[in-house]
Amino acid sequence: MSRILITSALPYINGIKHLGNLVGSMLPSDVYARFQRQRGHEVLFLCATDEHGTPAELAARAAGQTVREYCREQHDIQARAGEQFGLSFDHFGRSSNAPNHKLTQHFAAVLEKNGLIEERVDEQIYSVDDQRFLPDRYVEGTCPHCDYEKARGDQCDNCGRLLDPIDLKNPYSAISGSNKVEVRETRHLYLLQSKLQDRIADWVKSKKNWPQLTKSIANKWLKEGLRDRSITRDLQWGISVEYNGEKRPGFENKVFYVWFDAPIEYIAVTEEWAISNNENWERWWRTDKGADDVSYVQVMGKDNVAFHTVSFPCTLLGSEEPWKTVDKLKSLNWLTWYGGKFSTSENRGIFMDQALELLPADYWRWHLMANAPESDDASFTLEHFASVVNKDLADVLGNFVNRITRFCAARFGEETPSEGSYGEAEEALLAELEPRVADYTAFLEEMEFRKAFTELRAIWVAGNEYLQIAAPWTAIKKDKDRAAASVRFALNLIVLFAVLSRPVIPYTADKMFAIFGLDPEEASGWPDDIKAGLSLLKGGEKFTPADVLFKKIEDEQVEEWRAKFGAE
Ligand code: MF3
Ligand code: ZN
Repeated sequence: MSRILITSALPYINGIKHLGNLVGSMLPSDVYARFQRQRGHEVLFLCATDEHGTPAELAARAAGQTVREYCREQHDIQARAGEQFGLSFDHFGRSSNAPNHKLTQHFAAVLEKNGLIEERVDEQIYSVDDQRFLPDRYVEGTCPHCDYEKARGDQCDNCGRLLDPIDLKNPYSAISGSNKVEVRETRHLYLLQSKLQDRIADWVKSKKNWPQLTKSIANKWLKEGLRDRSITRDLQWGISVEYNGEKRPGFENKVFYVWFDAPIEYIAVTEEWAISNNENWERWWRTDKGADDVSYVQVMGKDNVAFHTVSFPCTLLGSEEPWKTVDKLKSLNWLTWYGGKFSTSENRGIFMDQALELLPADYWRWHLMANAPESDDASFTLEHFASVVNKDLADVLGNFVNRITRFCAARFGEETPSEGSYGEAEEALLAELEPRVADYTAFLEEMEFRKAFTELRAIWVAGNEYLQIAAPWTAIKKDKDRAAASVRFALNLIVLFAVLSRPVIPYTADKMFAIFGLDPEEASGWPDDIKAGLSLLKGGEKFTPADVLFKKIEDEQVEEWRAKFGAE
């Protein structure tokens, strides 16, 4: 048994997340965490809302709330939605909580002591009408690269480039819309990443098992040469620039930059978890306190990779303290909505809360994971979603479970038949399942989700094919023992399918265990020996035939949802 720390990229606080965000980090990390728990490992799976920075301030302003109120409310909304989606975080914290303040200030202090932070005079956009500096998203204007007219100060949503606000053409304030803006000087703290170039390059090189997408993004940044980066902003809401309780002179109206404090929250949320569970967080994070044998896995969308392969490692390695760093880093591409962007303001796409009003979590979980944007961006369409649900879940898995439990109940009664013994057909299926289960397990281990769930689907299909061949409904007419043996075998397959499917469709898996009155926690250990597993249910065990596990999605529903969620 090993210890596995898993963190999902922290969702921004500004509003409930859409299906693209969900499949970009929270859902795949959940599937992996559930899988590793079933394998019997000690898993700590953490997430939190990322609450600082201009997006939070702007969203609070738009909602007519104080940032503090807004964040509290939104944190609870996101926590609830996550729970309803079955995201099995051991803790869902907040980057604005006290542990992160303390740790962020700690890191800044040690980095400064190590000569890695310096004050620099910066040029920044100042709004005359708003009487304040306009960091990051507080400025909008025309992108200098692609001429998109609503580029934000920190990033262009059209071409995806990271921007410096002073590079925008025709800048204006996102607060008041005023274009009376000018460039003024202000002081900021800079993290001297350029000094850490070799350290980070060596560290990245040592990460042999990073996937291609992750490596190539990290190497691109290293090749361009690490740039010193400003880690403070002219904002109110955030972590104040103070060491040991003393505000840094000249920085009274500034806070740390959100991308400096957010990854530190990975550590701080562990402390939040430890406080509420009377646990020790250092054994997960300090290599001098036992974290050496932790395997640390991070999951995120591709736009986050640079921050996790370069910036955050600069913080950790630059501190010269014994912090645990990431081992496996899984990154995903984008899920688009009909090839375009999900957008709350333009009412395009489905958000987590809306999804659950339409259908239970497992329908979404299966579709999103089986079609995860891994090797490339992927497009979500309701048509594709409906066809995947109808085929994989209703026709294949659901049909298998319903058909065999109904048949058994009708012909043998509501208990597992004990007559007959397994023969050729059962051996043949076993011979097919053994390598498939091994591959499925290996793909999950590697977090190759599409491949994993292609394999799982094939396992379900094999179960259906077995039923076609064994055909107990025909066999029963001439050889009741044969029919009984194949029914017993198929009922055992339901349990095996429940175990294997539980990482991705946990609610359904638990319903499948419930058919046999099995406790999911006890019954869901990952199978080492499927042959033994398929003799788990002997004869004479009571069961309750399943209700329909998955309802098919009708064309009319697709039409209705298309109109409602802006499909085009
Ligand atoms: N909030 C960021 C995003 O959604 C992710 C932050 S990840 C962390 O893109 F490392 F900073 F925490
Ligand atoms: Zn652009």
